[in-house]
Amino acid sequence: KNQLTIGLFGFGCVGTGLYEVLNKTTLLQASIKHIVIKDLSKKRIIDSSYFSTDSNRILQDDEINVVVELINDSEAAYEIVTTALRAGKHVVSANKKLIAYHLNELVSLAKENNVSFLYEASVGGSIPIIRNLEEYYNNDSLSNISGIVNGTTNYILTKTAEGESFDEALKNAQDLGFAELDPTSDVDGFDAKYKLVLLLKHAFGFTTKQDAVWNYGIRQLKDWDARYAREKGLKIKLLAFGTRINNQIVGFVAPHIIPNNHFAFNVENEFNAVVVEALFSDKQLFLGKGAGSHPTASAVLSDISALQFDYAYEYKKSKTEEHLSFDSDYSLKV
Ligand code: HSE
Repeated sequence: KNQLTIGLFGFGCVGTGLYEVLNKTTLLQASIKHIVIKDLSKKRIIDSSYFSTDSNRILQDDEINVVVELINDSEAAYEIVTTALRAGKHVVSANKKLIAYHLNELVSLAKENNVSFLYEASVGGSIPIIRNLEEYYNNDSLSNISGIVNGTTNYILTKTAEGESFDEALKNAQDLGFAELDPTSDVDGFDAKYKLVLLLKHAFGFTTKQDAVWNYGIRQLKDWDARYAREKGLKIKLLAFGTRINNQIVGFVAPHIIPNNHFAFNVENEFNAVVVEALFSDKQLFLGKGAGSHPTASAVLSDISALQFDYAYEYKKSKTEEHLSFDSDYSLKV
């Protein structure tokens, strides 16, 4: 029952990770049938018969009922995801830029075609923050959501605090598979901003254009900033903030100098941490690996397993609809 036959777009760090974690998972009845990639000449860890550059091999294959989209080009991803949803296939995506720009449209399209669109891996890597925001809290009880949502910059800030150079730390973050193909998105705080836009939607039912949210990355930080912080027993962290004050939302991404009693002080390397503050539960901290092959693949896997079981699939559909219908009329204050 409910056999999932997956068509995968992209076989980079997360795509490869997904293949590996799927192979180690015994409970799921899910298998990858075909993988579409850009470059057939690259050496891959699995047989070349899996691969082609032809999207139709997935999008026009009726046996494939789940499309997993893990490419870095958000415009190409838009074509893939919308075509797949229209073809009646469930879609799992980790593409925060695509989703930050098109969430409402994609969820509506999924609803029209009676399929699911899931994207747990798009924010916080392995941390199940989207699902928790959807299923645990009442929309109107949340007042605050903030944290570290970019693994690359947190890794760079950790290493520069230890005396490594910025360039060396960035190179290592790329080699470890944390950074985007174009690391400008990480370094200048865009990646964190896309994630914040998604958090604002799920925390407050607030839809905003990402251009309206202010982001300032870590590129301008100098060695002496890191040295100053270290000498004072402080740390520099790139934080994303979303706060509701009456009917206004304050949202931005910016580096902060924090003291050692701040929740983010010991969040190091590629770890992410998100603090959610709600009326009755007060502050709660979600902590985990925010980037990297297997951690991010684990979130993709959690979406695939939600599709596996009818109850989760039906439940998720209705909760997502509820979220979208809760379109608040807050205004953004920057
Ligand atoms: N480049 C992203 C990061 C990957 O460093 O957080 C995970 O979304």
